[in-house]
Amino acid sequence: MTDTPRKILVTSALPYANGPIHLGHLVEYIQTDIWVRFQRSRGHEVIYVCADDAHGTPIMLKARAEGIEPEALIARVRQEHEADFADFRIGFDHYHSTHSDENRELAGQIYTALRDAGHIETRTIDQAYDPEAGMFLPDRFIKGTCPKCGAAEQYGDSCEACGATYSPLDLKDPVSAISGARPESRASEHYFFKLGDFEAFLREWTRSGRLQDAIRNKLDEWFDTGLSDWDISRDKPYFGFEIPDAPGKYFYVWLDAPIGYMASFRAYAAQQGLDFDAWWGADSDAELYHFIGKDIAYFHTLFWPAMLHGAGYRTPSAVFCHGFLTVNGQKMSKSRGTFIRARDYLDHLNPESLRYYLAAKLGDSVDDLDLNFEDFVQRVNSDLVGKVVNIASRCAGFINKRSNGELAAELPRPDLHEAFVAEGEAIAEAFEKREFAQAMRRIMALADQANQYIDEAQPWVLAKQEGREAEVQAINTQGLDLFRILIVYLAPVLPKLAADAAEFLNLDDTRWASREPLVGRSIQKFKPLMTRIEAETIDKLLEASKATLAATEASSATDNAAPEATVDPIAATIDFDTFAQVDLRIARIANAEHVEGADKLLKLTLDIGDETRQVFAGIKSAYAPEDLIGQHTVMVANLAPRKMRFGVSEGMVLAAGPGGSELYILNPDDGARPGMRVK
Ligand code: 2FM
Ligand code: ZN
Repeated sequence: MTDTPRKILVTSALPYANGPIHLGHLVEYIQTDIWVRFQRSRGHEVIYVCADDAHGTPIMLKARAEGIEPEALIARVRQEHEADFADFRIGFDHYHSTHSDENRELAGQIYTALRDAGHIETRTIDQAYDPEAGMFLPDRFIKGTCPKCGAAEQYGDSCEACGATYSPLDLKDPVSAISGARPESRASEHYFFKLGDFEAFLREWTRSGRLQDAIRNKLDEWFDTGLSDWDISRDKPYFGFEIPDAPGKYFYVWLDAPIGYMASFRAYAAQQGLDFDAWWGADSDAELYHFIGKDIAYFHTLFWPAMLHGAGYRTPSAVFCHGFLTVNGQKMSKSRGTFIRARDYLDHLNPESLRYYLAAKLGDSVDDLDLNFEDFVQRVNSDLVGKVVNIASRCAGFINKRSNGELAAELPRPDLHEAFVAEGEAIAEAFEKREFAQAMRRIMALADQANQYIDEAQPWVLAKQEGREAEVQAINTQGLDLFRILIVYLAPVLPKLAADAAEFLNLDDTRWASREPLVGRSIQKFKPLMTRIEAETIDKLLEASKATLAATEASSATDNAAPEATVDPIAATIDFDTFAQVDLRIARIANAEHVEGADKLLKLTLDIGDETRQVFAGIKSAYAPEDLIGQHTVMVANLAPRKMRFGVSEGMVLAAGPGGSELYILNPDDGARPGMRVK
C-alpha cells in the first residue's frame, strides 16, 4: 500500500421494507461490497452503512392488508433483509432503519434548519382523495383511462401506452386502487422544499467530477427544464414522521430516506465512539460515496446535496449509478421464474458464483447488465473452478503427499512472483474506478499464466524421476505462491473462497500488503474450494422461483390464515450409544431403475466401498432414475434386510421432505467417498 490511508464512508440505497431482496437489488449491494472490501484490502478506513427504508403509503397499506401494525411488518422484513445480505456476504458495518430515533431526530433537525433559512414554503394544492378509504391517494394508487390516447388501466401519473405524463386529476374514469371508489379533488396544505434556491450551488456541484457522464448529461436536461419545488409533506394517515411544527402532516418518505444514511452512521458512531461531525460536518475530510440505481439519481444528485448543503452538512464526494439487471436478455419476469429472490438463489447456488459473475460484467457505466444463465455456468466453471481453484488443487497434492505439507524455502521463478505483484497496480486501478470487469480479465489472464507455468514445468513427470523431489517441491511451491497472489486480488469479490484458501495456506491475511513470497512454511490438506455448477441446478432454481411466487401470491390472497405446521415435532431423546448403533455409510448410486409394477419404488444399486447393496427406495415420485445415477448419498447399512414383493432390500437411503415431489435425498459434501462411515 503506497497511498496514505483514506477515511471513506460508503452507502448502498436503502431497500423498501415491504418486499424481499431479489437479484436486481443484489447488483448494487454486491458492487458496493466489492468496492468496500477492495478499499479495506488497500489499508483504508472504510465504513459501510445501510438501512431499511421503512416509511410511506405502500408499507402502511401492506401492513393493513396483513392485519398487523407497520412496526411489526418492518421488523419482520428487516430481519429477512439482514439474513439475505449476510448470506451474500454483504459486509455492512451497520444496518439500521429509517424508522428510528436517530432518523427522526436528524430529519427534524435538517427540516428545521432548511425552514429557518427560508427554503421551505407552504401552499394549498388540490389532490385526489379517496372518500371511502379516507385518505389522499398517491399517483400509483389511482387507475383510469389515459386523457391523451384513451388506453385503459393506466396509473395516475403516466401512461404506459403512449408515454404521456399528467396529473391524476386529468385521468378519465379514475378509480382508487385501494377502495375502488371514484377519487374526488380535495384541497390540502403542503410543504415544499425550494430546490430552485440551490440552482447555482447544484450546477457547480454536479460539474465537479462527482458524477458519471451519462448522469451529468441527464442533469443538464433537468437544469434546462427548471428545478421545481419539491413537495415534502403528506397528509395523515401516513406511516412516517410527523413534521415537527405541523400536526397531521408527515415527511414524505423520500425526505427522510437519504437521511437514513446519516442515521445509520450515527447509530454506528455511538456504538463505536466515533465523532459524527468528523464524517458529516461541513469541513469533514472523509470521503462519502453513494451507490445507487440510475432511477433514483434525481433524489441523490439534486434534492440530497441541496438538503445537506442547506442544512450545513458536507455533501457526497460522488454518487455512483448503475443500470438494471436483466435475466437471459429480458426484464426479470415472474412467469418465467427469472424474478429471483435472494433466498431462492441461496437455496440452490453459491453466493460467490453470483458475486464473481457480476464482477466480471460490472464497469463504471449506467447500462443495464444481463445475467445470462448459460454464460453464468460457463464462466464460473471455467474461470473459478477450472482456472483459479485448479492451480491449488494441482499443486497441493504434491506438497501434501511428497513434501509432508512443507513448501520450498525459495521460489524457482521469483521473476514470475514479481510480475504477478506488479500487475496488482493495474488491477487496483481498475477496482478503484469500479471497472471490475477489467480487473477480473486481468486476474484471469494471470491465472492462465500460472497454469501455463505448471503445464510447462510438468511436476508430474519429474515426480516419477528419482532425485528430483526438491524440484517438484519448488514448482508446486511456486504454483501455490501464484495462487495466493490471485486470492489476494479476488478476495474483495470472493471473501469466503479467500478465507478458505487462507486457512489451507495457513495465512491470516489476504489483504493487498500480504503478497510476500509463499515459502518456507507449511500448508494444510487441500479441500475443494469451489465446485462446478451443473446446468440442472439452474432449472431447479427457476422452478423454485416460480413456485415461491405462486405461493406468495396464494398466501396474500388468503386473508391472514394461520401458517400451516410444516415441521414434524422432534422425536424422544435417545442416548449416544443408541445413535451409534446405526451404521450410516456414504453410498454412490451406481444404478437406479424403475421397478415393474411398483408405483412408489425405485431399485437402487449402491456402492459402499467394498460391496454393493440393492435397496428399494420410495422416491419415485420425486426422482427420475437417470438423475440419481452417479450421485453420492447416505444409507443405513446395518438395517436388517427386508423381503419385499419385488425382492430383498438391503438397507435404506436417507431422504427428507413431506413426500410426493417434495422428497430430497441427502448428498454429502464433495470429497466424501463410498464406504466412509457417517458419524
Ligand atoms: O428506490 C428505492 O428502493 C428506495 N427505497 C431507495 C432509497 S435510497 C436512500 F435515499 F434512502
Ligand atoms: Zn396514453
